[in-house]
Amino acid sequence: MALLTIRTAGDPVLKTVCAPVVKIDKRLRKLLDDMAETMYASDGVGIAAPQVGESIRVCVVDVDVKNHNARHDLINPVITYREGSVVDNEGCLSCPDLFGDVERAAKIRVEYISRFGKKKSLEAEGLLARCIQHELDHLDGKLFIDIAKNITKGRKNSEA
Ligand code: CO
Repeated sequence: MALLTIRTAGDPVLKTVCAPVVKIDKRLRKLLDDMAETMYASDGVGIAAPQVGESIRVCVVDVDVKNHNARHDLINPVITYREGSVVDNEGCLSCPDLFGDVERAAKIRVEYISRFGKKKSLEAEGLLARCIQHELDHLDGKLFIDIAKNITKGRKNSEA
């Protein structure tokens, strides 16, 4: 595995709508592993491909900050169900030191393809639901600072 360079706000790749993945192969799995390693090294709970310069619809999430034991690799993810609404503070590895309050659905269902090409579905709430919604915004070229309120400098919460 290898650490990748995280792109930061101002880089046009973060404003680009990503293309769906068409081929799931060893190369893609290596990218997912490198993204995970980069995320863990930065104490993040999620990372999307454009954050490492790849305009494709994949992201990695793991909200188990202590043990790194809840990793999900999401390929071509689509949110198919949303319920409720909750405002919480969030950050982003691509916007160092910035935090802000973002309204997200409280519960979601996301459908995606696994790293081995299987169709999967995941129901999430809490931090995992927030993180997945944050990462899917990245795949559409959106940053949390575009929608956040009360943006402040300084670490307050997990970054994705
Ligand atoms: Co982010």
